[in-house]
Amino acid sequence: MIKINENYLKLQASYLFSDIAKRVAAHQQANPDLKLIKLGIGDVTRALPDACIQAFHAAVDEMANDASFRGYGPEQGYDFLRQAIAREDFQARGAPIEADEIFVSDGAKCDSGNFQEIFSTDARVAITDPVYPVYVDTNVMAGRSGGAHNGRYQGLVYLDGTKENGFMPELPREPVDLIYLCYPNNPTGATATREQLRQWVDYARENKAIILYDAAYEAFIQDDSLPHSIFEIEGATEVAVEFRSFSKTAGFTGTRCAYTVVPKACMAYTDAGDAISINTLWNRRHTTKFNSVSYPVQRAAEAVYSAAGKAQVKDLIAYYLSNASFIRERMESLGYDCIGGENSPYIWIDGKSDSWEFFDLLLNKAGVVCTPGAGFGKCGEGYIRISAFNSFENVQAAMKRIADALA
Ligand code: MLT
Repeated sequence: MIKINENYLKLQASYLFSDIAKRVAAHQQANPDLKLIKLGIGDVTRALPDACIQAFHAAVDEMANDASFRGYGPEQGYDFLRQAIAREDFQARGAPIEADEIFVSDGAKCDSGNFQEIFSTDARVAITDPVYPVYVDTNVMAGRSGGAHNGRYQGLVYLDGTKENGFMPELPREPVDLIYLCYPNNPTGATATREQLRQWVDYARENKAIILYDAAYEAFIQDDSLPHSIFEIEGATEVAVEFRSFSKTAGFTGTRCAYTVVPKACMAYTDAGDAISINTLWNRRHTTKFNSVSYPVQRAAEAVYSAAGKAQVKDLIAYYLSNASFIRERMESLGYDCIGGENSPYIWIDGKSDSWEFFDLLLNKAGVVCTPGAGFGKCGEGYIRISAFNSFENVQAAMKRIADALA
């Protein structure tokens, strides 16, 4: 008799964004004439930068000729892209990352979900709360937790993010082995200073722990004093892995391209205490389970680093950030406390009521979709997240509808 992985039975019924999509679809079916404005899931709405499109087209044309056709690419990504990433995203900021430490993939969601596979199932996992649900769910699936109790899985170490600590939780009070951090943060939009990241790196070095650092939103950082990568912190290459994505940076949510940085100096340990480079382990995992991102997509991603690509990406980010600033200003003028939206496309709003009730109110009375904070964890209760990914016209209309609904 084939048996299931019973850890799946511990999970809440469905993934947060699928749950929201179901509610929205039901509402749309009941109100077919209503034009909903979606500021929920962080999905971009603007076209790919022209530099990317041109590179994409040229690469597709190469595939049309036997002489320039390409079959399987290297699982880790083509060297032209890995070199550009290492040079532009890291070395240019003084972060000592080499091309062979970059693993190109089809998404930061997949990588941040899959990476835990290379660690022992008894690793103690620290999760900030509120949090991107993928980190939690994948560790539950892997058997690193007990069942859910009062909205939290037993066995995971939750680090509370609150208004008081600016959604930057304190260091764990009990020993942990694997720490998930995300800055600029999804969902709160909070950022991490150099000094704060230094404390996490020091903690990880002292405790032989590893930090899985999700920097998918780094391109939104406007404040020059903030680090874009954890590898800007000395010693971080020994204890951190970083996830990056072209999705929010350059509009690749539907095109799919991301990468994970796994420094060769970063070690995890055998039962006997022998240090093993996780770059070697991840390379083994990646080459076994992944067969690279398509050649045209990697050429399109490479174009992000051209002079034209850089300028176009900057414009794209500025566009979404001006939406963010508009949303934040309007919500504050309605009397709501907000954080985020300055170095992040997300605005985290204290709704002063139950998250799902506030979500339903905006859906039913304003026809606007947001994300209920409670879906990101216990500390998200009472909050909603509004995403800046939409046209300015839609954002303006949404904020007018929200103001009318709340009047
Ligand atoms: C979000 O809305 O939190 C993100 O779009 C989710 C994701 O990137 O997978």
